[in-house]
Amino acid sequence: MNIAHLPAGYEGAANLLADRVILVTGAGDGIGRAAALSYAAHGATVVLLGRTVEKLEAVYDEIETAGGPQPAIFPMNLASVTEEDCRQLATALEENFGRLDGLLHNASVLGERRPIASASVDAWQEVMQVNVNAQFLLTRYLLPLLESAPKASVVFTSSGVGRTGRAYWGAYAVSKFATEGFMQVLASEMENTTSIRVNCINPGATNTAMRRAAYPGEHPSDNPTPDEIMPLYLYLMGDDSVGVNGQSFDAQIK
Ligand SMILES: NC(=O)c1ccc[n+]([C@@H]2O[C@H](COP(=O)([O-])OP(=O)(O)OC[C@H]3O[C@@H](n4cnc5c(N)ncnc54)[C@H](OP(=O)(O)O)[C@@H]3O)[C@@H](O)[C@H]2O)c1
Repeated sequence: MNIAHLPAGYEGAANLLADRVILVTGAGDGIGRAAALSYAAHGATVVLLGRTVEKLEAVYDEIETAGGPQPAIFPMNLASVTEEDCRQLATALEENFGRLDGLLHNASVLGERRPIASASVDAWQEVMQVNVNAQFLLTRYLLPLLESAPKASVVFTSSGVGRTGRAYWGAYAVSKFATEGFMQVLASEMENTTSIRVNCINPGATNTAMRRAAYPGEHPSDNPTPDEIMPLYLYLMGDDSVGVNGQSFDAQIK
């Protein structure tokens, strides 16, 4: 797999996402929170989707305090999301905005870190449900709204263990391989047929709750903050990446 990188020195223009409507999953914490704040700071109306309403409300308040466009909150637990939930989300977005310019699939769970031989079936299924099946359901029902936008961008979130498998990363690693595959299948379907581009980001080690849970022995400040990797998230959502499709990016250069 060829890995792509952000053009050197890229910084999105202040109005990069003016008048765009962008949905971010897992917008209440970590990288999703930083992306929601950054997209709003660059002019986007952000739809904050996640499972913990208080966290989404805190991000909403931060955006309002900073003077960004009024966001929207859509609580959704991806572990139990149904087709009907996705239909309702699509209807609400259609009624309020009439289109969707960007979709950042960011929410994920880490699951268990243990050998396949002793993995819990329930934990495996939860990871595949949140990290893979929910992405399919959301994408399936939001595609018509993305098609209504002049130049829409879908961004998936992968991981280093979604490109090379590693012992004890179990369902999480498998779910990230599936995410890379999903991105490629969708990007191939979109090639030359619509205005939708589809790409994937591997954030790399980033100081969030997930990283701290995966590496409890690591000093959190050894890794960049979510804010530090935002240029790539901006690049892929804004028009500077029009024409880029089916690529897997690393947010950090080793
Ligand atoms: N941090 C890293 O080093 C790193 C490295 C490689 C890849 N990634 C990927 O980057 C993405 C963001 O990770 P992160 O580090 O920011 O993780 P995080 O801090 O754990 O944040 C994950 C977000 O997803 C939400 N979420 C989890 N389960 C959900 C569910 N069932 N329904 C709805 N929302 C749910 C969480 O909501 P709550 O806050 O309510 O729990 C949270 O907002 C993930 O796809 C992750 O796999 C991260």
